Amino acid sequence: METAKNNLREPIVCVLGHVDHGKTTLLDDIRGTTVAKKESGGITQKIGATDINKNLLEKIVKNTFRNVSIKIPGLLFIDTPGHVAFSNMRARGGALADIAILVIDINEGLMPQTIESIDILKKFKTPFIIAANKIDLIPYFISAKNKSFYEVFKIQRPEYREELDKRIYNIINQLYVHGISSDRYDRISDFTKTFAIVPVSAKLNIGIADILMVLTGLAQKFLENEIKFSDESTRGTVIEVKKEGSLGTTLDTILYQGILARGDTIALNTANGPQTTKVKAILVNSSNKGIMEKDKVSAAAGIRILITDKLDVTPGTSIIKILDNPEQAFEELTRESKPN
Ligand code: GTP
Ligand code: MG
Ligand code: NA
Repeated sequence: METAKNNLREPIVCVLGHVDHGKTTLLDDIRGTTVAKKESGGITQKIGATDINKNLLEKIVKNTFRNVSIKIPGLLFIDTPGHVAFSNMRARGGALADIAILVIDINEGLMPQTIESIDILKKFKTPFIIAANKIDLIPYFISAKNKSFYEVFKIQRPEYREELDKRIYNIINQLYVHGISSDRYDRISDFTKTFAIVPVSAKLNIGIADILMVLTGLAQKFLENEIKFSDESTRGTVIEVKKEGSLGTTLDTILYQGILARGDTIALNTANGPQTTKVKAILVNSSNKGIMEKDKVSAAAGIRILITDKLDVTPGTSIIKILDNPEQAFEELTRESKPN
């Protein structure tokens, strides 16, 4: 297994930003799907996980940036809703993230939920990059698609470049007000001091290689400690709880540490306080094979867990794998359930 060999797990990448700025469309590009078009009212209502393995990552990035060496075993993306009503899900996604993409409509600039997202990222000290989206709507655009920003920029006229720069400087200035120093990624010399802005068009699949290249570089440079794989303990966060008649209770979960197997005992928060239960089945959504059952999975992964007991599980709760005594996990879960 890749994770065992180089001892890194997949970084969890949270995609945050204002409603309709293009988060889901951007993820559609990355995974080759059309989820955004199928959403009711065009609005994302929940957190969804997308796993990009090393092969796919390598294929997309190396097409343009041949010299990038990829050491991480892939990336696990988490989509979040941008609508004002879903601030709890943005916060949950932000808490899980090792790194994030802040999506900003380049023609609109910072909006209320962009600022809310920035505050979440600051609170958790999460490094992030900015995807300046919808560059196809800038005047004088010479159309292109399925290319890196680098390639598309080369064929644009000076008028377009000027309009693009105007909008980027606008975003740079707006971010500066929030204490963030940023620049277009290809003009940055020190990524420890400056946040990278990557111009993209999610609609035309432009800039995806650039985004993945910058994310990979940041993760490999700055996250080595956070993404060390360890199977000493197993932990996840429950994103969504469903009670499905015959199936019992299912928990959509982001596993961020360790290994989880069928039959494992886990502790989690319920309406009646911390409880233990057993993992009856683990389901994963694989892009080419649909929903599949797995005997075990290792972090990071988006999984659906079926549990053996009918419990009133609290959405957002941690799950902690129990080896012998649940006492310590119960203490931790009790602390977590107290409002701060
Ligand atoms: P929420 O999840 O509801 O917050 O929205 P979102 O940020 O996921 O945005 P979504 O991907 O649903 O896109 C919103 C609208 O913008 C859709 O109609 C997309 O087709 C459109 N859109 C997204 N990216 C681009 C782009 O690069 N260019 C243009 N022209 N339209 C885009
Ligand atoms: Mg969306
Ligand atoms: Na939307």
